[in-house]
Amino acid sequence: METRILEGRPVADKIYSEIAKTVAQMDKKPELVVFLIGDDPASRSYVKSKTRAAEKIGIKEKTVFLPENTSENDLERAIRDCVEEENPDGILVQFPLPQHINPEKIISVIPPEKDVDGLHPQNLGALMRGTTGHYCCTPSGIMALADYYGIDFRGKNTVLIGRSLIVGKPLANLLLAKGTDATLTVCHSLTKGLEQYTKKADIVISAVGKANYLKKDMVKEGCVIIDVGVNRIESSSSKSGYQICGDADYKDFLGHAGSITPVPGGVGLLTVAMLMKNTVNSALYFRE
Ligand code: GUN
Repeated sequence: METRILEGRPVADKIYSEIAKTVAQMDKKPELVVFLIGDDPASRSYVKSKTRAAEKIGIKEKTVFLPENTSENDLERAIRDCVEEENPDGILVQFPLPQHINPEKIISVIPPEKDVDGLHPQNLGALMRGTTGHYCCTPSGIMALADYYGIDFRGKNTVLIGRSLIVGKPLANLLLAKGTDATLTVCHSLTKGLEQYTKKADIVISAVGKANYLKKDMVKEGCVIIDVGVNRIESSSSKSGYQICGDADYKDFLGHAGSITPVPGGVGLLTVAMLMKNTVNSALYFRE
């Protein structure tokens, strides 16, 4: 069987071209401030891709670099000062945060209309209810990708592996929403006998963060694989000494899966695109 590759690039480009047109017509360009605490290489690289995307479509972006030992109070103050003095359209705090900072506390400091990451309790509530708000970027990016490639969840067995606040839980709500109508099973790292679920699935979405653990013999032939994992593995053939791979063993699935998202080049591109879309929406609809 030929496996269709669900590239993220054309989907992201379609979103960028739509929002770039909107931005071009705005007198005051949308503004995004990103807080990056510490120097985790993966986070630095994610933030760089956000800066590049913003530049590409005309969003004014500023990254605030803070040291690893920044206290929770100082970070809270930095966010409040930013709101007061700069009043940007969007604020994002890159995760993961250092151990001594409580992410829930920090997210709650961001005014919900500026929380373009969609992680404030008010925005998570809006996503769950299907009402107006910023929806978190990776889950809404996955829905945009599925829509672009005509992946229909109705009447299909969908198995979602992962229950994080950023991906698993909000994505479960989008999949269950009226109109999407997935019949959904949610598994996670403590699920016993994962294969008994994945083998019955028409669509498997993995957001676990475990390199290459999902193999073709765990799913039916023709299954759709949506891979949300971004994992670094050592690689002597690469200049950086590492390679990025997903949760699914990509090569193993070629010729077996009906379709699969690549890593890199799949879902990750949509996360950034949806962040830009939320930032533009914030400037359009939530400016005072
Ligand atoms: N780290 C990994 N993914 C994300 C994301 O979607 N938002 C934030 N803020 N941090 C992340």
